[in-house]
Amino acid sequence: MTETTTNDDAARPVATDGGDDPQQAIDAQGERRREELDDRIFEHNAGDEQEGIPFVGAGPGNPRLLTVAGKELLERADLVVHAGSLVNSELLEEYCAHAELVNSVGKDLEELIPLMRDSYEEGENVVRLHSGDPAIYGAALEQMDALEHEDVPTYFVPGVTSAFAASATLRTQLTLNEVSNHVAFTRPQGKTLTEEEDHISEFVGMGDVTSCIYLGTHAVRDTMDRLLEDGHDPETPVGVIYHASWPDEDVIIGTVGTIADKVEEAGYRASAMVVIGDAVTGAGYERSFLYGDWANRGSSGSSGETEASDD
Ligand SMILES: C[S@@+](CC[C@H](N)C(=O)[O-])C[C@H]1O[C@@H](n2cnc3c(N)ncnc32)[C@H](O)[C@@H]1O
Repeated sequence: MTETTTNDDAARPVATDGGDDPQQAIDAQGERRREELDDRIFEHNAGDEQEGIPFVGAGPGNPRLLTVAGKELLERADLVVHAGSLVNSELLEEYCAHAELVNSVGKDLEELIPLMRDSYEEGENVVRLHSGDPAIYGAALEQMDALEHEDVPTYFVPGVTSAFAASATLRTQLTLNEVSNHVAFTRPQGKTLTEEEDHISEFVGMGDVTSCIYLGTHAVRDTMDRLLEDGHDPETPVGVIYHASWPDEDVIIGTVGTIADKVEEAGYRASAMVVIGDAVTGAGYERSFLYGDWANRGSSGSSGETEASDD
């Protein structure tokens, strides 16, 4: 199993000679986005049920980590187009055994868009089910734009992204006072990103960033080698969480210097979250301001509005 090219939940659009040309539709929608904001941005809240095809985040795997909104939509669905092995089959069995199930893997937009459009226009409840959260490495927007261009409304229903399942498994926070002030959702160079677009070394170099690497299981050794070449501390903690929240979840803890051997020994080439930074161990953090004097000082001493931190 490798994930070098399966970077997204759907394949890239390819222009065709026929009437259904997702690339033209995407270009046209892109133009519209540049020109005017969609009124629905101001009319609906995330979580509202809306007209159209919902693009639902299935969460990281465990069916219990699907949102209530997602579960309700799946239970009513006639057609569910899902992200194949990235979505736990237990979830499909539990919530949508009654529906027609279509695996999107290996299908291009020319196939997927007419399938969803026709079913929706026939009055069926259609759900597009992505793994984790559709907004993270999900290639959802291009499908939505192609559908919208054909007058099929769409909307997002968020899900728990796998980085959050990984941090829960690690029993840590991705942001941690005095340890990590920022989180980077990132991926390594490869077919999609050039060497210059791979910023993992820069994030690690910042010192107070937790890097959550998607789509990088197959490239752990390359990634760690680059970090070592760039002079980063080989003792920097790294956690690799394979299939976070699935029954066969596995956790490998190491450092920039040791993790590649461990991952290779385990044999994982896909479906893992690689987390780099001191937040992996959760050691060395300082008590936050939230439960100390700072919160009280903020409310009595300042005339401006302050935003209480959760850390
Ligand atoms: C195409 S991306 C989709 C990410 C997804 N949209 C999300 O929010 O988690 C697939 C990558 O997400 C990560 N991933 C997805 N599910 C995972 C899980 N349960 N445990 C660990 N990593 C996971 C892996 O790095 C995998 O290569």
